[in-house]
Amino acid sequence: MPARAGMTSSTPSYPTGDQGPGLDSLRKAGRLPDVHPGGASGRKRNVGGSSLYDHPELYAALLAPEPDLLDDLDLWVAEHLRGRIRSVMDPACGPGTFLVPYARSGCRVAGNDIRPEMIASARRRLGRTRVELTCGDMRELHFESGPFDLALNLSSSVGHLRRDADLERHLASVAEHLRPGGLYFLGLTILDREVEDDDLWVLFEGDPMRLPEGGMGAVRYESLQRHGRLRRERIRVITLTNGAPELPRVIMEEYTLRTFPPEVVRRLLERVAVFDLLAVHDMTHPRRAAVRLEEALDATLILRRR
Ligand SMILES: C[S@@+](CC[C@H](N)C(=O)[O-])C[C@H]1O[C@@H](n2cnc3c(N)ncnc32)[C@H](O)[C@@H]1O
Repeated sequence: MPARAGMTSSTPSYPTGDQGPGLDSLRKAGRLPDVHPGGASGRKRNVGGSSLYDHPELYAALLAPEPDLLDDLDLWVAEHLRGRIRSVMDPACGPGTFLVPYARSGCRVAGNDIRPEMIASARRRLGRTRVELTCGDMRELHFESGPFDLALNLSSSVGHLRRDADLERHLASVAEHLRPGGLYFLGLTILDREVEDDDLWVLFEGDPMRLPEGGMGAVRYESLQRHGRLRRERIRVITLTNGAPELPRVIMEEYTLRTFPPEVVRRLLERVAVFDLLAVHDMTHPRRAAVRLEEALDATLILRRR
């Protein structure tokens, strides 16, 4: 799920039985088109055959990280990294969402994504100086410019991996590209096995934004269903645009993300044996407080490479 950590930080997850007010506010503030998520189109998995991932520039405009999230990342780096931060890597970087601010602050950056259109967008936004971009799988990274001081993957992107073995391979691959003592900020959804409900939770609702190509856009992320034993969460993303003729007016998509019981996270980390778990931050908490893994929901793990 895109940038969930950043999103939930500004707008904490909350359950709601009413789908109306949020979308109303999007429509009013941005004069955006009407959608009926509960109606006939809401049953479809994907309206118009499109996904927000198919529109990297739109994704980048709607999901740029909030300044207060970047401030928190800086604090965690200051707290846990020995030495200065000079290089940053994102193994599922999308359009370079989190790499752009680090590149601006003078870091060498590297990003990887499985979608060529995401990498093309990241290249446009980052340029070529002190940047390495690769197109490939986050389970098998192939950067030449490492090792890096910091890797970050904050948006539950590892929820796209299907099996625990995939996460193991991913962790090992990230570790190969970090210097000893380097940090990995890893975002994932923690769900106890007992959890099973289908209340609608709004995970994030961004303010309507001006788009670089003109027009307005807004996005809302919802969690439709959580099933801890089956290890999955059903996500719905509603993206609206107006005055941007080259973009769909409405993109409504659903997908399933993998969730992780706390004991599975601990077991995986033990098995991979390359990281120490230094802290866990709950991104749904207003101050992104440090919590025990067992108390986290939208968790960012602070891992240090041994
Ligand atoms: C939620 S976006 C995150 C983008 C960026 N890191 C951010 O925080 O905004 C998830 C990204 O993961 C990519 N992705 C999904 N599966 C992947 C895989 N197996 N390997 C690499 N990238 C993958 C998608 O193409 C998408 O760009």
